[in-house]
Amino acid sequence: MKLRYFSHSSFQITTEKGIKILIDPFLDGNPTSPVKAAEVDADYIILTHAHGDHIGDSFSIADRCDSLFICVNELAEYCKSKGYKAHNMHIGGGYNFEFGRVKFTIAHHGSQTPDNLYAGEPAGVVISIEGKNIYHTGDTGLFLDMKLIGEMNKIDYMLLPIGDNFTMGITDAVKAVEFTSPKVAIPMHYNTFPVIEADPNEFKQKVEVEGTDCKVMDFGQEISL
Ligand code: NI
Ligand code: MN
Repeated sequence: MKLRYFSHSSFQITTEKGIKILIDPFLDGNPTSPVKAAEVDADYIILTHAHGDHIGDSFSIADRCDSLFICVNELAEYCKSKGYKAHNMHIGGGYNFEFGRVKFTIAHHGSQTPDNLYAGEPAGVVISIEGKNIYHTGDTGLFLDMKLIGEMNKIDYMLLPIGDNFTMGITDAVKAVEFTSPKVAIPMHYNTFPVIEADPNEFKQKVEVEGTDCKVMDFGQEISL
């Protein structure tokens, strides 16, 4: 499979069979994304929560691609209220889709739609595809249960925020990697706006001192997993 990073918390997974899964696609309003929403396709859109920098361009992409939303119940109902298809899930629950398994985890954050509606709990997500487990933490502070998530899922790639202010900063993110023990840590949610400026190479250096590999993806870069 391939993993593409647009910047912020926005990723696209493309499976061997060519199924495309977007996570938190925030592109047109995102000053750091080199890719625009009109250039991106999605069979599925996974949303971790409802904040504008995560719902992003989901609806315009779904209009074009007839994408299925996968998110917690309240946010799924919000998507349905706007006329979109959604698969309702909730924290702690997993489901086997045609491309692999999706399981939602806790995240300590908020979740309100851009039009100020309650959208349930924010979440992280463990996506299991082609024998690999990818853990996208969503926006969150550090929490001890990351140890349990790592123990139960053997994480290959952990995508986690380092930008501070709204989420973990570098120090807490280094601890999060220690708790979760992924094979590779990939930083996200930094340098999009001045308030979340952070140096991903400082994070990489600190994570690698602790013995875990860290891949700093360029904005727009695609890698094979
Ligand atoms: Ni948020
Ligand atoms: Mn955010």
